[in-house]
Amino acid sequence: MSKNAKHSDVFESHKRLEKSVTLLAVATFVVVAIGGIVEIAPLFWIDNTIEKVEGMRPYTPLEQVGRDIYVREGCYLCHSQMIRPFRDEVERYGHYSLAAESMYDHPFQWGSKRTGPDLARVGGKYSDDWHVRHLKAPRSVVPESIMPNYSFLADTMVNVPDPGANLTALRRVGVPYSDTDIAQAKADLYAQADPQADAGDLAARYPKSQIRDYDGDPTRVTEMDALVAYLQMLGTLVDVNSAAAQEQLTREVGR
Ligand code: HEC
Repeated sequence: MSKNAKHSDVFESHKRLEKSVTLLAVATFVVVAIGGIVEIAPLFWIDNTIEKVEGMRPYTPLEQVGRDIYVREGCYLCHSQMIRPFRDEVERYGHYSLAAESMYDHPFQWGSKRTGPDLARVGGKYSDDWHVRHLKAPRSVVPESIMPNYSFLADTMVNVPDPGANLTALRRVGVPYSDTDIAQAKADLYAQADPQADAGDLAARYPKSQIRDYDGDPTRVTEMDALVAYLQMLGTLVDVNSAAAQEQLTREVGR
């Protein structure tokens, strides 16, 4: 008897809430605000939402130019750069992507459209020569491919009037390029694609940078050089199988 009375009390007060538009609006706001505060407030007290992972570094000027060509040509319309933590993806593309691996990407290239395969770990999968032939004429190496030809890249010289300015813009949005990186940007850009050039301390400032001619013609630096340099770097910076990375992973993913 008393139990029923209690129930009807609750219903009575809820009825009042539902009948008053103002009361309902205020109560709804309070409930939604609690959820919002729980999600948003911590962001003001932590420095970064992405945990640093050993090996991740800003892109070299040549890789960055390649990346700009990748974005300009709309490669992202058919290719994603994010391996999801599902078994089928990991077996096909390799270790799933970590947040830190795209922390210097502006804009990021995650994507949800895969007409072609994911490219997050394509670096080192093929030779430079394969990439050059594939980009010039995809069907010459993969007969059933529907990827467009990009042969003009091999005949187009890299033309970036002020690579340092690009790095400065990226630094403003948080990519940690040093003053030396910015001052040396133009020299770095050409030195990375020229095995004869004195690359200076490029390899020390950009660990794991691959210094070589990419497009088969060491006498010039083409957009093909830049794009292949970018592709060959993808997924090679973080050693996901090292002990340190595994430890960070455990913390990041919680398993
Ligand atoms: C119309 C969609 C489309 C566009 C645009 C496109 N691709 Fe592809 N790409 C594909 C398809 C489909 C494949 C798989 C067949 C093949 O290897 O050619 C592929 C394969 C690749 C591969 C080989 C990946 C692997 O793991 O085997 C690379 C590298 C690649 N594309 C790079 C690029 C780059 C760089 C661009 C931009 C300049 C680009 N693609 C633009 C559709 C596209």
